[in-house]
Amino acid sequence: MKTNVNLKPYNSFGFDAVAKHFAEVNDIQELEYLIRSDVFKHEKYLILSGGNNVLFRDDFFDGVVVHINTKGIETLEEQENNVIVRAQAGEDWSEFVRFCVEKGWHGVENLAHIPGKVGAAPVQNIGAYGMELKENFLQCEAMDLSTGESKVFTKEECHFGYRESVFKHELKGRYVITSVDFLLKKDAPLHMEYSNIKSYLEQNGIERPTLQQLHDVICAIRDAKLPDIKQIGSAGSFFKNPVIESMQFETLQKEYPTMPYYDEPNGMVKVPAGWLIEQAGWKGWRDEHVGVYDKQALVLVHYGGGKGEDIVELAHKIQDSVEEKFGIKISPEVNFV
Ligand code: EPU
Repeated sequence: MKTNVNLKPYNSFGFDAVAKHFAEVNDIQELEYLIRSDVFKHEKYLILSGGNNVLFRDDFFDGVVVHINTKGIETLEEQENNVIVRAQAGEDWSEFVRFCVEKGWHGVENLAHIPGKVGAAPVQNIGAYGMELKENFLQCEAMDLSTGESKVFTKEECHFGYRESVFKHELKGRYVITSVDFLLKKDAPLHMEYSNIKSYLEQNGIERPTLQQLHDVICAIRDAKLPDIKQIGSAGSFFKNPVIESMQFETLQKEYPTMPYYDEPNGMVKVPAGWLIEQAGWKGWRDEHVGVYDKQALVLVHYGGGKGEDIVELAHKIQDSVEEKFGIKISPEVNFV
């Protein structure tokens, strides 16, 4: 275990924050040993996966930061059309997706190029381009942070929702996910309904893409819209897309007929927060250190030299102005530490 470690390389916003203790875990036994150690029992702790969805508000974390770096991808079962594949929590998500696509396994291709690690993916049920992790998730194994014991969570037990799971709510801070099992298909229809995918395929004259081509198209779309975290600090979408009552939606639609929307179950309507933020005039806004990305208003960015609090302040201003203009409260998808 190290002391006074700067977490800048471990958070995609690139904020300077120092951890009092820092432990990198390379296998399950190391994790178990750490959880049962004295320092872990007496100090506050934070499990850090890829650090792609966290915002350090303060410049000091007074406790133990555990960085999960366990590796390994294995095929547990292979049948005519089904494959069960297990990935350890510290595997890079994009590389895992690339691995599956190269094998010709369907089920995670639309989630290509999402920054982060496998272990963090179920926590917020990552989703993009018409697919969510939960669709091909089979189960995951997680370790109880108070006892060091492992437990398997089925899909039902994970209570997945839009960017939600039991690990963000009832079991927040109780478990660390150590591996995830996926049920993938060797042959399955591709999901190409999302408008960005359709228009990209049309523009490039691709009529019937292969699995690999669809993966590459999604990578290209993401590259064009989202900042490269090696160049500009960000945590991807900062806010969730709000879900509102259809009555409220109908009233708003009269005033803003071009407002994009997606029908949800139970007569609710999801509205893109990026559109609301753009309409409220924030797209491309920037001060010295932080701003709103000019190609996607849902993404808050750190240009360097700033503090977590600068993002918190900006996020509050955006929330207030969206609420004032549309009467809609938007809430962060990023976890504040
Ligand atoms: N829009 C604007 N202005 C903007 C951004 C978006 O008008 O600045 C409009 C677009 O024109 C479009 C709609 O809003 O009509 C939706 O935009 P987009 O397709 O870019 O997707 P999103 O709803 O803004 C969500 C996810 C992304 C995911 C994309 C693609 C959330 C919170 N975000 O964004 O996920 O990549 O869909 O599926 O659901 C992430 O979670 O970090 C992330 C990047």
